[in-house]
Amino acid sequence: MRIPSLFVAVCLVAATPGFGLAAGFNPEMTKYVQGLETQAKKQESSFKGFDAARGKKLFFDAQPNAKSGPLSCATCHTSDLKKSGKTLVGKVIPPLAPSANKSRLTNVKETEKWLLRNFKQVYGREGTAREKGDVLMFINAQ
Ligand code: HEC
Repeated sequence: MRIPSLFVAVCLVAATPGFGLAAGFNPEMTKYVQGLETQAKKQESSFKGFDAARGKKLFFDAQPNAKSGPLSCATCHTSDLKKSGKTLVGKVIPPLAPSANKSRLTNVKETEKWLLRNFKQVYGREGTAREKGDVLMFINAQ
């Protein structure tokens, strides 16, 4: 009997240490998140895996911003990620939650591009590998 390759792939992913949390990403995103994990391990010796709770805090923590006033990820994406958000100039942003918007966190280029821009806008710097992984875990669980 032939073993279907999808089954083998699922087993390999499930058997990867520390990978349980990342379940639900497509293969492209899975690779991206695994890359972030490798980077995070190199950068922080105490790193023990991504954490959606830390990602949630990062998402809601408002930072002082001279132009807009206190700014967090939730300022534009709202505190209910299943709902549409709005940019600072009032342009509608479709929901960020993959459960409400199937295209979310499916395209690495798109996700990377916006994480870079949005981290710079809120935190004034690029997100670290751990921060990006943490916030992706949080968003993906919505
Ligand atoms: C000033 C408004 C604004 C803020 C603040 C903001 N975002 Fe966004 N975000 C956007 C816009 C606009 C897009 C692109 C439009 C779209 O994808 O619908 C976007 C897209 C994204 C995407 C792309 C998702 C995908 O795969 O399609 C992610 C992830 C994201 N934001 C996360 C964050 C995180 C994390 C923060 C906080 C560090 C944040 N955003 C803060 C406006 C914002």
